[in-house]
Amino acid sequence: MNKTKFPASFLWGTATAAYQIEGAGSEDGRTPCIWDQFAAIPGKVYEAHNGDVACDHYHRYKDDIKLIAELGFKAYRFSIAWPRIFPEKGKLNPKGIEFYANLLKELKKYEIMPAVTIYHWDLPLWIHEEGGWTNRQTVEYFKEFASVLFEHFGEDVPMWITHNEPWCASFLSYGLGVHAPGHTDWNEATAAAHHILLSHGEAVRLYREMGYKHQIGITLNLTYQHPATGSEEDRMAAGRADGFTNRWFLDPVFKGQYPEDMMEVFEKQNVSFDFIHEGDLALISIPCDFLGINYYTRNIVRNNPDDLFLGGESVRGTGSHTDMDWEVYPEGLYILLTRLKAEYTDLPIYITENGAAYADNEVISGTVHDDERVEYFRLHLNAVGKFIENGGDAAGYFCWSFMDNYEWSFGYSKRFGIVYVNYETQERLPKLSAYWLQDVMAANTIE
Ligand code: BGC
Repeated sequence: MNKTKFPASFLWGTATAAYQIEGAGSEDGRTPCIWDQFAAIPGKVYEAHNGDVACDHYHRYKDDIKLIAELGFKAYRFSIAWPRIFPEKGKLNPKGIEFYANLLKELKKYEIMPAVTIYHWDLPLWIHEEGGWTNRQTVEYFKEFASVLFEHFGEDVPMWITHNEPWCASFLSYGLGVHAPGHTDWNEATAAAHHILLSHGEAVRLYREMGYKHQIGITLNLTYQHPATGSEEDRMAAGRADGFTNRWFLDPVFKGQYPEDMMEVFEKQNVSFDFIHEGDLALISIPCDFLGINYYTRNIVRNNPDDLFLGGESVRGTGSHTDMDWEVYPEGLYILLTRLKAEYTDLPIYITENGAAYADNEVISGTVHDDERVEYFRLHLNAVGKFIENGGDAAGYFCWSFMDNYEWSFGYSKRFGIVYVNYETQERLPKLSAYWLQDVMAANTIE
């Protein structure tokens, strides 16, 4: 069997996000975010689950970090809840700062490197009430939020991720209506995407101006859009899907422009693009220190002229599928990484999320035997290894997720954790995949 050896500097981490794990929804001054509101709308979220309690990480962070350390992770990616820091307009909440200062202190104790996501979708309701990401003013609020974080934690955080998955926070949220705030308007969706990207640029500029020298970048979710056949029609359809999920974000960040073919697609949806101001794209493409990518699956695309938006439809793949019904397709990760290097950037790339949901509820002899998740990690880490062997700069890998948590519109019904969470008792139990990763990280090698 082939062995993949990772470079000594390879950063092994695990990831979470505030709304998905913290709970303490109305404690210490936190006010609601768009997900609190969205979850309460009947039919939007599985059984109207919300983040009020989640994994109760807000109270259990010390034990959680201890477990992260015991499992051998060198890095921990988490996000900061905006409504804890700014529960109201212009009102900084010292209790919010205190929580993350304590969290960072705990990580330091175990020498775990923090990788901090500034925005992972918990937009404060007070900002949403002014238009949320469709409103250019939100860029200013984000800048204020980022500046407070840099000021308090700038020295202690070596890796900042401005945004997690702008595609989800804009297109899935304001265009497809699947995520909060659940709107379905392409003018709003493209404006939201633009403002999110602009706020990324503003935050990077601010970070440099404030004189910090650590790393700052952005995390994009990329999907390999695979043509259903070799026909010209299917390839074109996959190209449009690629424009929608990948190029719409990669092109402005790395090339300072939006893809023209996609602008035409959106113009047909009556998008006027008057939210793009002079100088915006220069700021959006401000140089970063790394690119983060989240990868889960591929999408197989067939041409379909009846689809008036992208002229395509998805075809179910023949590979095995996870509990999200996402196909396991590690080759897609390799293809994307290779393409990023060829077409977009030489910057170090971190896989800031990769993982799988499985319905692994059964505890046998004190652990959860999530062999399918082990296999998922093994295949995807091999894809990363292959990219490195071929000269690619993949600098680290953060498995998603450290523990089972709130899976957005699926509530607690999907389990992505390498650590099992009993939501009745809040007990944590590392699954087999956690121990498997522990071995891999210790050896820096996979068989
Ligand atoms: C998000 C996570 C989410 C995961 C699995 C990503 O889109 O960043 O918050 O839980 O994928 O769906």
